[in-house]
Amino acid sequence: MSSTSSARQKFQALPGTRDLLSPTSERMRALVNTFADEAERAGFGQIVSPMFEDLGVFTRLGESTDVVTKELYDFEDNGGRRIALRPEFTASVCRAYAQERPLTPWKAWYAGPAFRQEKAQKGRYRQFDQVGAEVIGSHDPDLDTELVALADRFYRRLGLRSVTLLLNTLGDAADRPRYLDALRAHFNANLDALTEQSRITLEKNPLRVLDSKRPPDAELIAAAPVITDFLSVEAGAAFERVQQGLTALEVPFTLAPRLVRGLDYYTRTTFEFAGTGLEAAQNAVGGGGRYDGLVADLGGPEDPGVGFALGVDRTLMACDADGVFDAPNPTVDVWIVAVTDGTEGLELAEELRRAGVSVDRAFDGRSMKAQMKAANRSGAPLAVIVGEDELAADSVSLRPMRRADGHSGSEQTVIPRDQMVTRVKELLAR
Ligand code: HAM
Repeated sequence: MSSTSSARQKFQALPGTRDLLSPTSERMRALVNTFADEAERAGFGQIVSPMFEDLGVFTRLGESTDVVTKELYDFEDNGGRRIALRPEFTASVCRAYAQERPLTPWKAWYAGPAFRQEKAQKGRYRQFDQVGAEVIGSHDPDLDTELVALADRFYRRLGLRSVTLLLNTLGDAADRPRYLDALRAHFNANLDALTEQSRITLEKNPLRVLDSKRPPDAELIAAAPVITDFLSVEAGAAFERVQQGLTALEVPFTLAPRLVRGLDYYTRTTFEFAGTGLEAAQNAVGGGGRYDGLVADLGGPEDPGVGFALGVDRTLMACDADGVFDAPNPTVDVWIVAVTDGTEGLELAEELRRAGVSVDRAFDGRSMKAQMKAANRSGAPLAVIVGEDELAADSVSLRPMRRADGHSGSEQTVIPRDQMVTRVKELLAR
C-alpha cells in the first residue's frame, strides 16, 4: 500500500533501547577509548566477536539464572539453527578461545552491546553496553588481582570516587557440594521466613537464594553459612593471595562473603563494583571473577579463565552522581560563512578539511545575518567569510568569534585566499 493512501505509522525505539545522540554518544566513545587505553597498557588485545551465537553457547551460563531462562533473545534462523543475541561477552570469548586456540595466557578486552529481556527501567536496559577484559589459560591468582586493579585504574581515571569493590570467593567446584548442603540445611530449617520465590530458587540452586534482593529474605541471608568456611586449602590460599595483592596495590576492597553473581560459571575469586551513589537495584556498575570450567564446558581444553565486565551506562550514571567525566563539547574549529552564488562555501570547507581542520557551515542559501548567527551558535572559534567582495579580490575574511569566556579575540582580517589554510592554522594554534 502506498504511504500516501494510509496514515503513516510513527515508530519509537523499543522499551529498554535508546538512541544516544551527540554529545552523549561522544561521552560513551570517550569512556570506551579510556578503557581501551588502560587495557592495552596492561597487555590486552581487543577481541571483536559476533553479537549472536548458537544458543548453546549461552545456555552454559546457568540453567537456573534469569539471564538464561527468562532474558535471552533467541530465535531460529533460516537454516533452522537456534540462535541467541549475546547477553554478555564471556561465553563468546571462551568459545572463540576454544575455536582459535591463541597462545596463553590470552588477554582480551572488548566493548559493545549486550542484550537481555529485562524489565526496562533507569539503569536497566534491554540493549546495554559493556566494556570488559578476560584472561584465559592461567591459574595464577595474581591475574585476578591485576584484573581488579585494571578496573580500579579505569574508574580512577574517570574520576569516580563512589565505587566500592566487594570481594568474595566461590571456591572450587569440589568445595561447592558441602557448602550447598549447608545452605540447604540453613534455609530449609527456616522455610517459613523465606519468600515464595526464594523457596522455588532453593530447589534449583541454593546459592542463588543469597542473590535475592527481596527484603523479607534479608535476615535469613545475613545469617546463612559462608563459603569461606568450606574452602579447600588451595582455594583458600588463592583467595589470601588476591587479598594480599590488592592490599599491596592499595586497591581498597570490602569482603562480601555472601556475594553471588548473576551467572553460574564462577569459581574462586568473584567481585562486584557497587556505585554507592546509585539506587540499590541498579548499583552494580561492574563485576567478574574466575570461571575455571567454562572453556571446557564449551568444548575447549580444561583451561581456566578470569575476567570482568563493566556496564557502560551505569558507569556513566555513577560519573553523573560524582559530577565527573562530563560529556565532551564537540565543536568544529571553523565555521564557513559564504554568501556568494558560486560553490565557494563547498570548496573552502573541503580545502580546510583536507588540511585537517574541522569545519562546518550553513546550507540552503541563508542570509549573511542568519549564517553569522549559526556561526556564533556553533561555538567555533573562527569564522571564514566569503562574500562578493572577497570573491572579486580572490580573498577571504577571517573573524575570530566571541568565546564563551566573553573574550572576543582580534578584529576581522582580509587575507589572500591561497593563504587561508596557513593563517587559519596559525590562529587556531594561539
Ligand atoms: P554481569 O554482572 O551480568 O556480568 O554484568 C556486568 C555489568 O553489566 C553489570 O554490573 C551492569 O553494570 C551491566 N549490566 C548488566 N545487565 C544490564 C542491563 N540490563 N542494563 C544495564 N546494564 C547492565 C557479566 O556480564 C559477566 N560476563 C562479567 C564477567 C566477565 N565475569 C567474568 N568475566
